[in-house]
Amino acid sequence: MSEKLATLSFSDGTPSVDFPIYSGTVGPDVVDVRALYAKTGKFTFDPGFMSTASCRSNITYIDGDKGILMYRGYPIEQLAENSDFLEVAYLILNGELPNAAQKKEFDDTVTKHTMVHEQLSFFFRGFRRDAHPMAVLVGVVGALSAFYHDALNINDPRDREISAYRLIAKLPTITAMTYKYSMGQPFMYPKNELSYVENFLYMMFGTPCEEWKPNPVLTRAVERILILHADHEQNASTSTVRLAGSTGANPFACIAAGIASLWGPAHGGANEAVLKMLDEIGDVKNIPAFIKRVKEKDGHAMLMGFGHRVYKNYDPRAKLIQQTCHEVLAELKLKDNKLIELAMALEKVALEDDYFIQRKLYPNVDFYSGIVYKALGIPVSMFTAIFALARTTGWIAQWKELIGDTEQKIGRPRQLFVGATKRDFVPLAKRK
Ligand code: CMC
Repeated sequence: MSEKLATLSFSDGTPSVDFPIYSGTVGPDVVDVRALYAKTGKFTFDPGFMSTASCRSNITYIDGDKGILMYRGYPIEQLAENSDFLEVAYLILNGELPNAAQKKEFDDTVTKHTMVHEQLSFFFRGFRRDAHPMAVLVGVVGALSAFYHDALNINDPRDREISAYRLIAKLPTITAMTYKYSMGQPFMYPKNELSYVENFLYMMFGTPCEEWKPNPVLTRAVERILILHADHEQNASTSTVRLAGSTGANPFACIAAGIASLWGPAHGGANEAVLKMLDEIGDVKNIPAFIKRVKEKDGHAMLMGFGHRVYKNYDPRAKLIQQTCHEVLAELKLKDNKLIELAMALEKVALEDDYFIQRKLYPNVDFYSGIVYKALGIPVSMFTAIFALARTTGWIAQWKELIGDTEQKIGRPRQLFVGATKRDFVPLAKRK
């Protein structure tokens, strides 16, 4: 029993009730309201989960007021500076940084799972070539359970581990295949001598016609973007994965659900929306008119890449991506890039404007990531698919945590019913 208690009193005659308060290792306490309905016949009401912790987790911690993000206790800045993506994936999945032997084994195992079942390539042909990559990704990742059903017993830790390897290893291959299919180019098989990120870029941009050489600056940029997107605690897509997982659905189906949830412009689709917004603004001289429209909420106009449910300060990932953005533009000799000039001018105007200051709206991870992708020659429609590739690690770690959590039950929110009460059926002939 917790020592700290919260007492809830009622003005409708319901007797007061006490609820235990729990403290995490860091962050706000939580009030355990699980017994509320049994004790009072009432539910809590929290659309959008503004004040609800849905689980215990020891993977990712965010302090939105201070702009802090940590995976397993390690600040994102240190990981982005010192790690490669697979090291971060190991950390997120296993809780500790790997030693040299563990790192090698992990890298080797992921590398050996990168090829996809040959039959999967035929699956692609059912899609139109101009389909949105996220539509294809939802379908193909969902289909993985039809290809890899040899290890789908979610109660067997070894099966869970194999599925985790398969998902982390095959997402770059499938994402690149999605791109190749849209371009009408042949799929490129993974090459085991390349690193995870090099291999992804090779499968995206290589062709059978000529040799492809990795560029270390560009590889590093994508490595960093993947690290920054790898996990973000209980956001919409992760909660979707957990909700699907709570029913006992297989991990491929759960991750496909997460991809669908990520697609929306308020979530992962924002990186694509930022580029569309910058295109629409077109020139620095049009910024004031655009900001005016946003402030007046004219036609639901929003400053995409700004604002966050949790960060009420600069998103720490945005700072790191901004730095990467400058490195990539310098490497590609795009220093006087019009897009980055426009983005920076827009950011400056917004950060000095009362509307954004009062609402604590700061740039988020998606504000600059799209500019990096664009500079790398990645088409706008692929941006969110690459986000999904990176987030698969977080999703699978959160799914594994859920399956191993004895406190978890099927996710089943209740509602405040405001519809019609009981009434009798009226035959068609008698209806007005
Ligand atoms: N531009 C203009 N106004 C905004 C914006 C924005 N980007 N974001 C929030 N506001 C306003 C909103 O209209 C509201 O104003 P008012 O008080 O006058 O009604 C106020 O700020 C509070 O916003 P909210 O909608 O209650 O905040 P939320 O926590 O529910 O939404 C958000 C967070 C990320 C969905 C929202 O800020 C947004 O849609 N931003 C643009 C899309 C975006 O960049 N999403 C990426 C998020 S980071 C990556 C990821 O999660 O995938």
